[in-house]
Amino acid sequence: MSEEKKKIIYSAMQPSGVPSLGNYIGALKNWKNLQDEYNCLFGVANMHAITVRQNPAELRQRTKDLVALFLAIGLDPEKHIIYVQSDVKAHAEIAWILNCFTYMGELNRMTQFKDKSAKHADNINAGLYTYPVLMAGDILLYQSDLVPVGADQKQHLEICRDIAGRFNGVYGDVFKIPDPYIPKVGARIMGLQNPERKMSKSESDNVNNVIYILDEPNVIRNKIKRAVTDSDTEVRYSEDKPGVSNLLNIYSAVTGKPIDEAAAEFKGCGYGEFKTGVGEAVVAELEPIQQRFKEYSSDKAYLEKVMKEGAEKASYIANKTLTKVKKKVGYPIYK
Ligand code: TRP
Repeated sequence: MSEEKKKIIYSAMQPSGVPSLGNYIGALKNWKNLQDEYNCLFGVANMHAITVRQNPAELRQRTKDLVALFLAIGLDPEKHIIYVQSDVKAHAEIAWILNCFTYMGELNRMTQFKDKSAKHADNINAGLYTYPVLMAGDILLYQSDLVPVGADQKQHLEICRDIAGRFNGVYGDVFKIPDPYIPKVGARIMGLQNPERKMSKSESDNVNNVIYILDEPNVIRNKIKRAVTDSDTEVRYSEDKPGVSNLLNIYSAVTGKPIDEAAAEFKGCGYGEFKTGVGEAVVAELEPIQQRFKEYSSDKAYLEKVMKEGAEKASYIANKTLTKVKKKVGYPIYK
């Protein structure tokens, strides 16, 4: 298939802490596999990150680290676009325009805004409120066909489609209306201590609940050893065994083996042996990534080059859409 004909996929991640194994299995690992079939944009959503208070030095560092991690997992900056959101001015510009095409009633319905307002009650700022509009701009600037979204971002993609449809309804076909991309594989990874809830990088109350991509191999092994299972002793995939099933999902995701094959492999094993097997599989997957991360993150010149070139490539595409949009709404046009 020629480059031109490939569909465009847009994905982004906030630089708010080291991604977890859940982020890796649920998002990053899939992104890597999209690269043959699609033209991809991989964004570091640092403008979204400042909707909650950040330490500036840490945010800057985590932004670079996330770029290094993208490279370490095998995202290719030559064939695709890896960039930092704030490096592309078009994001800020289109966000304002799209704000004027978004109803407060729509934003009031966003469950993430309600959750985050409850969590950050001392800082319910307007950016937190219009966060989905900034996100809509990310997607629409690149005329994206598809956006891989987990359950927590589904509503945001819906509002993006509504905003785009509304704008197109007034001005003609300016934006491509994006569809959700549902990965072929990819289980939802749950917390190791609380397998009823998703493993998320922000849910760090209990360090043993979350495996971080950059956790030392022995830390990974120990966290998995401490994972909650049940009083039963049988390794079996079943709804009434959330802890064991979660570990089987993890094993299946990192080895690429289907669940039934994974379960068969551990049939008759005690939980100790099972957890050792899962731990080793996770370490085998993450250790090479950690090694590459070290290399990329210490090569400041190369990282900066990737970021600058990514920003240029992204800006070029984004500005084409932005120029159209500005014309449509009646901003001055200069020859
Ligand atoms: N809000 C997303 C998250 O926290 C990150 C994000 C920003 C994003 N812009 C995006 C995801 C555009 C998909 C498309 O996970």
